Amino acid sequence: MATQKAEAPKGKLGVLVVGLGAVTTTFMAGVLMTRKGLAKPVGSMTQYDKIRVGKGEDKKYLHYKDIVPLAELDDIVFGAWDVYPANAFESAVNAEVLKAKDLLPVKEELEAIKPMKAAFDKNYAKRLDGDNVKDVKDRWDMVEQLREDIRNFKKETGVDRVVVLWAASTEVYVPVDENIHGTLEALEAAMKADDKEHVSPSMCYAYAALSEGCPFIMGAPNTTVDIPAMWELAEKTKMPIAGKDFKTGQTLVKSGFAPIIGTRCLGLNGWFSTNILGNRDGLVLDEPANFRTKEVSKLSTLESILVPEDQPDLYGHGNDEDTQYYHKVRINYYPPRNDNKEGWDNIDIFGWMGYPMQIKINFLCRDSILAAPLCLDLVLLSDLAQRAGRYGTQRFLSFFLKSPMHDYTQGEVPVNHLFQQYVMLKNAIREMGGYEADEEID
Ligand SMILES: NC(=O)c1ccc[n+]([C@@H]2O[C@H](COP(=O)([O-])OP(=O)(O)OC[C@H]3O[C@@H](n4cnc5c(N)ncnc54)[C@H](O)[C@@H]3O)[C@@H](O)[C@H]2O)c1
Repeated sequence: MATQKAEAPKGKLGVLVVGLGAVTTTFMAGVLMTRKGLAKPVGSMTQYDKIRVGKGEDKKYLHYKDIVPLAELDDIVFGAWDVYPANAFESAVNAEVLKAKDLLPVKEELEAIKPMKAAFDKNYAKRLDGDNVKDVKDRWDMVEQLREDIRNFKKETGVDRVVVLWAASTEVYVPVDENIHGTLEALEAAMKADDKEHVSPSMCYAYAALSEGCPFIMGAPNTTVDIPAMWELAEKTKMPIAGKDFKTGQTLVKSGFAPIIGTRCLGLNGWFSTNILGNRDGLVLDEPANFRTKEVSKLSTLESILVPEDQPDLYGHGNDEDTQYYHKVRINYYPPRNDNKEGWDNIDIFGWMGYPMQIKINFLCRDSILAAPLCLDLVLLSDLAQRAGRYGTQRFLSFFLKSPMHDYTQGEVPVNHLFQQYVMLKNAIREMGGYEADEEID
């Protein structure tokens, strides 16, 4: 795709979020509080990071907004869908992520965000039991109703553009089936035939968003836009897609820490990651079929950073079929911790002459506090990409994602290495700002 400078935004940017739970309400409250000058958007690259443009005597370090025409926080208008009818203020209170002092100043704005009825199928998240759900004839009707929601939102708010972000619960694992997910024609036929097994609700949201001219971002590990049928739709509608799974806590650490082992040429025998968390996300992930989706996403990170075939002496010492070294990820639902997830990583490494050592990382994080800035960055950068004429999979957004989308039909290997991902991000910002991409990804 030819690189192109991004056009300046006109008018307001609608941000329609699927799921009005802990992450979404923390994201929304933070943006609204920042707008009032009452909070700082810490952790957001689009608001804080500075990158170099130009070389030699011409080099300057600039914020993204001084390189590319990003939408302003003041221009964002929020909307959402959820299975439960609680408005954004009630839902934020229930989530218990933010303190009253960080919610009350924007109470009215949050109360005005009332979720539209969800496109939902209980078979995809058995532990949810809300009644704010659309009555649909079939999957195609689900798409049609969602398209109408997007059109109505645009009409009612007068926004110029809309980005759709999935920050709803993780759905059960849907393996890619080439016969259904391989082409747009087959996917549409399956929707019309009401094939509930292969067409998840998230696919209906993505299909509706792309068809209505909205970029779509998958923040959970669901099989949704990472299938050839959706790539075809994104090409046809010229819309950006990004996914999948916000890279927040443990995987962020992993994709930043694994390069230390790799660069220093140390050996790896095994990496055991375990988590406890007690929010609704944890409750849904306690269901084995939903956990499977997360596990696949979390496991993929190490394999492309520490590659056993490249360094059999260093990484070939375990006997795990896929990775050689033992790589295990566990998540346990533990209500007392609510949104404050605790992650432990035990890393068994070895050094000179094979002598073993251990590294332990204990991250006491706050899930939604880490995810909120990613929502903002993904939304603003997808909107920017669309104005720069970029469409299809946005690989430069891999930095923000646990399981970056890649064309597996062509044998493409995803880039999981945090610092290589950062180079891709910086180069894309440079290009969309009319500068040359000038760093090598190696
Ligand atoms: N916070 C993190 O660090 C992090 C990292 C990576 C991914 N995620 C993912 O982000 C998502 C949101 O996390 P959360 O903590 O806000 O969860 P949450 O349970 O608080 O909120 C999710 C909301 O989605 C709603 N929902 C479920 N299915 C829906 C549908 N089909 N349509 C509309 N609404 C639907 C639920 O009712 C719920 O209110 C989860 O999938 C989680 O795995 C979170």
